Amino acid sequence: MFLQEELTKYITSHPNSKAMWDRSNKVLAGGVSHNIRNLNLPLIGAYPPFIQKGYGATVTDIDNNTYDDYWGAHYAMITGYSNPTIQKKVEAQLMNSWHLGTVLEHQVLMAERLINDNKSLEHVRFCTSGTEAAMYATRLARAFTGKKKVAKAKFGWHGAADTLFYDVRAPLTGKETRGILDDTEAGVISIDINSQTAVETINQHKEELAAVIVEPVLGGGGGFPVERDFLKLLREETEQQNIILIFDEIITGYRFCNSLYQNEIGVLPDLTTMGKIIGGGFPIGAIGGRHEIVEQANPTISDRVWIGGGTFSSFPLSMIAGLEMLNILKTSAEQYQRVNKLGTSLITDLNKFFKEKQLSYLATGHKSLVTLHSLSKLLDKPDPVDIVHFSDKKKETLTQLALLNRHITGMHGIGALSFAHTEKQIQYLQQAIMTITPQISKEH
Ligand SMILES: Cc1ncc(COP(=O)(O)O)c(C=O)c1O
Repeated sequence: MFLQEELTKYITSHPNSKAMWDRSNKVLAGGVSHNIRNLNLPLIGAYPPFIQKGYGATVTDIDNNTYDDYWGAHYAMITGYSNPTIQKKVEAQLMNSWHLGTVLEHQVLMAERLINDNKSLEHVRFCTSGTEAAMYATRLARAFTGKKKVAKAKFGWHGAADTLFYDVRAPLTGKETRGILDDTEAGVISIDINSQTAVETINQHKEELAAVIVEPVLGGGGGFPVERDFLKLLREETEQQNIILIFDEIITGYRFCNSLYQNEIGVLPDLTTMGKIIGGGFPIGAIGGRHEIVEQANPTISDRVWIGGGTFSSFPLSMIAGLEMLNILKTSAEQYQRVNKLGTSLITDLNKFFKEKQLSYLATGHKSLVTLHSLSKLLDKPDPVDIVHFSDKKKETLTQLALLNRHITGMHGIGALSFAHTEKQIQYLQQAIMTITPQISKEH
């Protein structure tokens, strides 16, 4: 009943998106170029809204529906959409060619800036995406240590490249797709976060283990913070065993404070992968870390490690927009504080509500990253394994649809707060969730 009403409402208000979705499916595999962008809506007979513009905290689709947006373009747009200062810098470069394929002043400024902001970065390399950065970071680690295996966190997402696309989604069966090597052939093992068993696994493989890679907050995995003590433990263990510790800060970098999150938690890895926010909304990936590891990529040394080679690596607009983004973030201490606080309260309030009403939903996340889990069973505590195991895709999709009908876009339930969100918008989001979740729960 609720599903039918919501579907009718959505279909009536999104005719242009429907027409475009039909065309899209004729020419693109599954109608998309990134799997999650269909919001799983086909699962319940719907289709995603085709968004055409974004300003501040809102986006508008081709049917002229405007939404409060919590997706933030894969969490990249922390200052909101169409930031005027970034826009101005990019427009100025557009008059002077937007791609040059040469060494570039802004690339140096950007690297200097990242190194200045972050203790663990001595050298940096830019590429085009976070996926590439993760791929190259493990290559550098293997070359540096002369060892073959890489350990990653269960549920950790580092992009879908062959190297690390293992044990990302429940029920954790090793490789995540046909067409890549089995985990044993690829030399990938996985570890539990926040657990002593990780240390045992690392010790068991220490002779062959080149690197351990972990996100300080599992993003794609559902917004699960990794405990500081666990990260410290990983640091100690890897240091002792000549294993390179890599933090994937593609989401967490500059998300909670004006630097990589590692500085706030006080645990410094050997290598860090970066992306999203630091590109100012343009494609970017970066690898940074200890001089002797990154410097292996120097093309003038005879046995260098080949990383990079992308036509668009250190793309001018990414460097220019990224640098401007970092400039804005430098003076955004109050904004960080505000959205971090708002996100934390949202998680707490929602969980309190779900508990009171006995609804099988849970909010997880950290500060301005907020994930809403739609579950098939009541769970008391946000244990990642249980959450992933009992996540109910159909219910999650219906929740997403009901939010769209209330002019809210998000991913994984909610997503990320930006500096452009007002308290009023976040109250509206909270209220909308508190209205729809009891109704959805009646049907599930
Ligand atoms: C933690 C993490 N690592 C790596 C990636 C891959 O980055 P990109 O999408 O820029 O290739 C992502 C993307 O969502 C991510 O969240």
